[in-house]
Amino acid sequence: MKEAEVQKRIKKLRNEIARLRNAYHIENKEGVTPDVYESLTRELEILVQKYPEFEDVNAPEHRVAGKPLDKFVKVRHKSRMLSLNDAFSYEELYDWEKRIKKLLPPSPLQGEGQGGEVNYFCEVKFDGLAVSLIYEKGEFIRGATRGDGFVGEDITQNLKTINSIPLILQKPFPESLEVRGEALMGKTTLAKLNLQNGKEGKPLFANTRNVAAGSLRQLDPQLVADRHLDFIAYDLVGIKEARPNALGLASPQFHSNKHEMLRQLGFKIEKLEAKCVSLEEVIAFIKKFEKIRPSFPYGTDGIVISVNNLKLQEILGVVGKAPRYVVAFKYPAERSTTIVKKILVNVGRTGVLTPLAIFKPTQVAGSLVSKATLHNMDQINRLDLKIGDTVVIEKAGDVIPKVVEVLTRLRTGKEKKFKMPEFCPVCGGKVEKKITTPSPLLHKEGAKSSPPYEGGDKRGGLSVAHYCANPKCPAKNERYLEHFVSVFEIYELGPKILRRFKDEGLITDAADIFTLEEEDIAPLERFGEKSAENIIQEIKNKKKIPLSKFLWALGILHVGEETARDLAEHFGTLEKLVLCARQDLTQIDSIENIGPAVSKSLHDFFSDENNLSFIKKLQKNGVSVQKAERRKKGKFTGQTFVLTGTLSGMSREIAKEKIIALGGKVVGSVSKNTSYVVAGVDPGSKFTTAQKLGVKVIDEKEFLRML
Ligand code: IVH
Repeated sequence: MKEAEVQKRIKKLRNEIARLRNAYHIENKEGVTPDVYESLTRELEILVQKYPEFEDVNAPEHRVAGKPLDKFVKVRHKSRMLSLNDAFSYEELYDWEKRIKKLLPPSPLQGEGQGGEVNYFCEVKFDGLAVSLIYEKGEFIRGATRGDGFVGEDITQNLKTINSIPLILQKPFPESLEVRGEALMGKTTLAKLNLQNGKEGKPLFANTRNVAAGSLRQLDPQLVADRHLDFIAYDLVGIKEARPNALGLASPQFHSNKHEMLRQLGFKIEKLEAKCVSLEEVIAFIKKFEKIRPSFPYGTDGIVISVNNLKLQEILGVVGKAPRYVVAFKYPAERSTTIVKKILVNVGRTGVLTPLAIFKPTQVAGSLVSKATLHNMDQINRLDLKIGDTVVIEKAGDVIPKVVEVLTRLRTGKEKKFKMPEFCPVCGGKVEKKITTPSPLLHKEGAKSSPPYEGGDKRGGLSVAHYCANPKCPAKNERYLEHFVSVFEIYELGPKILRRFKDEGLITDAADIFTLEEEDIAPLERFGEKSAENIIQEIKNKKKIPLSKFLWALGILHVGEETARDLAEHFGTLEKLVLCARQDLTQIDSIENIGPAVSKSLHDFFSDENNLSFIKKLQKNGVSVQKAERRKKGKFTGQTFVLTGTLSGMSREIAKEKIIALGGKVVGSVSKNTSYVVAGVDPGSKFTTAQKLGVKVIDEKEFLRML
């Protein structure tokens, strides 16, 4: 970038960061997450480091968040409510330890480990709103928000509606004390609230933090009471005794003592906490919680690690707005911003062209992300995405990264519009456009489905897909092979091996896989006897296949997993289906759930002699198609389910099995034909689609009752 461009980018970044920060911290706007402005801030920091001439001390990135609003009475905190310094990696934790050890006396204090070791206390960092509670003579007299750390707002009335905040402390209690902790909403409560809001057409809350903040800002305490908020205490400050320890309270020596005292006084304290004698133990705790985190009942964003000994805390003190003796380890952000460098086009097994965005690599949820599928032209148009744009990428948990938003305010005017190529990027064949009105049936096929949905628009309405019209396109063949082996569950044959076998001339189509022998593979470089044996054994084991899977594996347009199962169930054998598809389409049309698009596609497929000889070749090479088993009959027969969000009691796979065992079907996307959408915690867009289509949405409890 040229200097002038850098300067412009910095200015734009500053404006956008200021706007987003305000939207998040002051207005508690829906859909705005701190990840995005933090990611932009990191870019800004790097730019300013490289170009210090553009540093500006009054710039918004230097301002502390959290101005108090005007509505409530302001109160000055007895002692400043501090912030925490963050650590984003284990290295940063070790750096922190190095820094503090330099400041501590060389000989250990009593109660500490040997040789200058420091003991730590780990606790969960809750994602709600920090509040301070003041108790006098055991009675809750005032509660306030953090505000700017010095002055907060008096929200006593609202806090009194929270059941986990004791109004009277358990004895023995000190003369006066201040408790700090997090006001928040549990994930299940949020799910229920969103379910209700959805039914009433009200906007949905993005996360538990937003909803806690929004609720506590309500002036009417009744509204707050309806929200069923929670409070979790994590710190005890300013204990004052009339006569020291007169009530039998030992003054705390460790942060862990504070938690014990808080428990005794009647506060809710998180069970998951740990005293650790080394950073290795701290890291083990971080890793342990990372696994629990998705199903943890509250929103969290990290682990707070304190030096446990309060005397050492005192020695370490506070710098600026954060203490030295505590650090917040933050789990990797699930959203990040980056720039789209170019858009490539992939060709799928049915010839569908799928645009792929290539980014400036960026760290999201613990991994480096450099590309994401854009699905199709509709998606690009919907996002209003251009090459050169700054985009927000999301990768929650194990989910594949996706572009969720374009930050159009950061545009320079030089961004380029993307156009689908007119010729296939792989074979140069003509690209054709197909506009399809997906029938509800086709919709149900979901992500794994066969054709037009590969890259198709799953919203309902019209779907535009671009296809390579050349039937011999090598890209199509390669993708088809990958699809075929994945349906046959021949796991040993990954895409790289398949390509290698093709290049070596060992296979020309999927049927050739079944004639491979160990002697063909073993001599190949990087293979050897053992791997050859494994591959051949696996292929042998997978020669028997149920009819429904066989149909799915054929890659017939519009025939995905569920449709294949319906067809197999109706016809029982391949021969009967082929006969009907060639001669009597009316029978196919009469099958429940199957529309004219499917029957036409079956007709086209089975009328093509090439396809019939491919099937014959498969059978000749040992593939044996099993007669279809009847679908299990049960109380879910005829009903279609869509699962969304995280279920707390069972995995989605198990839920799917249970539904199928009772005769039901589970599909990937919502349509008018869906009977139920089961919404777990953090439901995705399927939830909103269900609301729009008027499909019944049930929560996990209701689902369990049905089971
Ligand atoms: S601080 C001496 N503990 O993080 C150690 N902060 O404080 C005191 N937060 O917005 C512990 N969970 O609301 C601490 N377990 C926790 C926390 C926590 C959430 C929030 C707090 C504030 C920010 C910085």
